[in-house]
Amino acid sequence: MAGTTILKMNDISKDFSGVKALDGVSIEVRRGEVHAICGENGAGKSTLMKVLSGVYPAGSFDGDIEFEGKKVAYRTINDSEADGIVIIHQELALSPYLSIAENIFLGNENQKRGVIDWNKTNREAALLIARVGLSENPATKILELGVGKQQLVEIAKALSKQVKLLILDEPTAALNDEDSAHLLSLIEQLRGQGITCIIISHKLKEIKRIADTVTVIRDGKTIETIDMAGPDATESRIIRSMVGRDLNNLFPPRDPKIGEEVLRVENWTVFHPVDTARKVVDDASFTVRAGEIVGFAGLMGAGRTELAMSLFGRSYGTNISGTVYKNGQEIQMRTVDEAIRNGFAYATEDRKRYGLNLIGDITQNVSAAALGKLAQLGVIDRNREYKVADSYRSKMNIKAPSVSSITGKLSGGNQQKVVLSKWIFTGPDVLILDEPTRGIDVGAKYEIYGIINELAAQGKAVVVISSELPELLGLADRIYAISEGKLTGEVSREDASQETLMHYMTAGKD
Ligand SMILES: Nc1ncnc2c1ncn2[C@@H]1O[C@H](COP(=O)(O)OP(=O)(O)OP(=O)(O)O)[C@@H](O)[C@H]1O
Ligand SMILES: [Mg+2]
Repeated sequence: MAGTTILKMNDISKDFSGVKALDGVSIEVRRGEVHAICGENGAGKSTLMKVLSGVYPAGSFDGDIEFEGKKVAYRTINDSEADGIVIIHQELALSPYLSIAENIFLGNENQKRGVIDWNKTNREAALLIARVGLSENPATKILELGVGKQQLVEIAKALSKQVKLLILDEPTAALNDEDSAHLLSLIEQLRGQGITCIIISHKLKEIKRIADTVTVIRDGKTIETIDMAGPDATESRIIRSMVGRDLNNLFPPRDPKIGEEVLRVENWTVFHPVDTARKVVDDASFTVRAGEIVGFAGLMGAGRTELAMSLFGRSYGTNISGTVYKNGQEIQMRTVDEAIRNGFAYATEDRKRYGLNLIGDITQNVSAAALGKLAQLGVIDRNREYKVADSYRSKMNIKAPSVSSITGKLSGGNQQKVVLSKWIFTGPDVLILDEPTRGIDVGAKYEIYGIINELAAQGKAVVVISSELPELLGLADRIYAISEGKLTGEVSREDASQETLMHYMTAGKD
């Protein structure tokens, strides 16, 4: 059966009150292949998949869909699932307080005369989670699992629905290298079992490894479909299609001008907020100078985010000890407000939870952390607020019809740019960026690196936490490695390589 067409989406257009998200996109997927969709932030990738799966019901878009040779018109996600189309969204949707088994069969319970058959549920769940390579007990609660494993539970859940076409929207964006590799092999395994897969990802290396075919979309239009077995199926070809031009350098040029020490942290120790005997950050000491970009490398769970959040107004952890100096003076940051007053900003990796007010518009979000700068005699100058937000919209190239657009409706990458704008507008001296380019397309990454360089050039002390080692190597003047809460190494840009960093990042691990 391999090679025949399983899905055809013809000339799909969709607009949101005047904004054209899709403008005549067509895509054809063969049975049993892994088909990647690539495109810049806001290109329309997630929207296209929501059209396919009935999140946006038939009638709310133009164009038509053929699945297994039949025209389909899904009105809900249940309709598409009944045909074997399962979508795993960009934001995971498991219930944290329910078990793995409960999540897998949520909404699809094994019932006997209205009573859930728990023996059957647990038995089947055990089989499904074994199929995705998890060894957890099905009774384990989701909140006890890391994101990598949660992703696998989502796939197990899809398998329980007899999936024929599995759609993964940026499945590895929040995963470390090891979990990503595991997920990719699982997708290859499913392909071996005849399951067709559509994957959206900004990580072109993964696409290169796993995809049989790539469709590139830009501004809501199909640009081209590339057969990845062909001779010119390269990353740069995909990039050129995505951004409409060549991008030879992934990092903008920079001439670092490093000044005096701005931040000095000594013996920083933090305990876990619930498991209070566990040290999450262990006696960490480091410095950052004016104009310097300092990277923090570490595996998932190493304590990078915990270090940053505990410094930033003690937003994480208990029983925190250690000393922070700014420009040689000891400072206290007991609350987020106090941290902001001390000239600190922390742009979080988890934009949904801490970073943004999703029901607010872009203007409200950009100004949220620095309303004081816009107020006169306690009254906010709305006109200036609007102008500031609009200037960030153009500077950061945020794709939205206006700054009155609701942030929750922006594409993932554009939400990230709003988070960055918000913190840059506070005018910090010390800027901590936690995974600043997660979910961001290659072209926009370049723009964000340019912005980070500019902040450093203004003499700010910049800390970048990133799981992508090439990003740290391309951006940072100096890199600290962290493993199990301890700083295990410090390397200058000249001496840094993926191998040295990996060595320190796994120090003390078996
Ligand atoms: N519910 C909505 N209301 C209004 N506009 C929307 C809505 N959903 C998406 N859009 C707009 O449609 C366009 C396409 O968004 P979409 O989320 O499909 O992009 P994407 O390609 O998935 O981007 P990313 O890589 O950043 O996730 C964007 O301009 C976005 O702002
Ligand atoms: Mg998306």
